[in-house]
Amino acid sequence: MATERTLSIIKPDAVEANNVGAILAMIEKAGLKIVAMRMLHLSRAQAEGFYAVHKERPFFGELCDFMTRSPVVVSVLEGDNAVAKYREVMGATNPAEAAEGTIRKAFAKDIGENSVHGSDSLENAGIETNYFFPGCLLL
Ligand code: CMP
Repeated sequence: MATERTLSIIKPDAVEANNVGAILAMIEKAGLKIVAMRMLHLSRAQAEGFYAVHKERPFFGELCDFMTRSPVVVSVLEGDNAVAKYREVMGATNPAEAAEGTIRKAFAKDIGENSVHGSDSLENAGIETNYFFPGCLLL
């Protein structure tokens, strides 16, 4: 199996609810290693830049309002098949469809305030990792 790196964001709803520790514990329990991490309060420009791929979607404004509401925790996770593995640990984007034992099933409120973000492909993992941690790509 290939060792990969993927980007995780613990979103404002989860930070506000003091769920950072519990979410990091689920990540580590799944065998993913946290190789970089920081807490920051995203600016509007940072949120819009990060989610630029969604800028034509009707929920874009709401998404950026939410992501800039309060601090987030961004981290880089490493492991075998890290991109797919973290998406499994997170559960479906809509928590109503998330499987038991996943982060979103445990903590997310709805499709907007869904507690965590994870890169959806190895290519995007590289782009997103570089967005917050320049130079942190897996060599
Ligand atoms: P994320 O994995 O961070 O990627 C894009 C985000 O857009 C997604 O999680 C949700 O938080 C948000 N999103 C997706 N669909 C909707 C929707 N229908 N309404 C509001 N927010 C959405």
